Amino acid sequence: MPPVRVPRPRRYLTCEPRHFAVSYAINPWMRLDEPVDTALARAQWESLVRAYRGLGHTVETVQPVAGLPDMVFAANSALVLEGKVFGSRFHAAQRQPEAGVYAAWFKEAGYETHTPDAVCEGEGDFVPVGGLILAGTGFRTTVAAHQEAQEFFGVPTVALRLVDPYFYHLDTALFALDDENIAYYPGAFSPGSRGVLERLFPQALIASREDAMAFGLNSVSDGRHVIVAPEAVGLIGQLARDGYVPVPVDLSEFHKAGGGAKCCTQEIRGL
Ligand code: ARG
Repeated sequence: MPPVRVPRPRRYLTCEPRHFAVSYAINPWMRLDEPVDTALARAQWESLVRAYRGLGHTVETVQPVAGLPDMVFAANSALVLEGKVFGSRFHAAQRQPEAGVYAAWFKEAGYETHTPDAVCEGEGDFVPVGGLILAGTGFRTTVAAHQEAQEFFGVPTVALRLVDPYFYHLDTALFALDDENIAYYPGAFSPGSRGVLERLFPQALIASREDAMAFGLNSVSDGRHVIVAPEAVGLIGQLARDGYVPVPVDLSEFHKAGGGAKCCTQEIRGL
């Protein structure tokens, strides 16, 4: 029998997909010849927010800004830990103005944002778990930003090198199941980084490439319930066998921009 998994109430920051579109291509998922169904995207995003609220979580929203189609991917705009906000400095010029909009939201809420000097895409590449910050690099966030985050939070960062352009952000290849364990797709990482993950998380749930390509690892767990892409059928079975409760939410329109549930969700920890 797997252990009883206990959820913890969360506070999430999101951004309505009013201006969501694929109008440039900065990762291999984005294709300018495949238009987004705006009404469907909106309905899918609303079902995500409904699922969070149904589980008892708090959902906040940032006002979307015209001309910033990727702003819906709230995860990329900061890492918030113990009430401290470490903002972002986007790699792509098209996304750079998003950082200031989110920083203004935090300021309004009464919190100062530290803006990193190095390229850094928030929770896209930072996953806090077990007293560590797992930190992706290779496509977006730099190792210099990992060091800045470590100094800022006083929490050790563990650099993990991403090697497959389809998994350009750490949160497309790995997520925290709870405060101790993770799920990940090993093929997204360099051999050395796979070794690090095996040492740190010998009990990790290992996902297949199919499930990872279905955005199965772009999941959001509260410690018990896991918001997961319905197409990630193998992973859904693994989660259920391990005592987690999979909550499938279809975000297929967002996959066209290279994002899923986690990308649309920033966790505000300790505010
Ligand atoms: N189109 C966005 C980009 O390439 C997608 C970001 C997805 N967000 C995430 N947390 N992985 O930057």
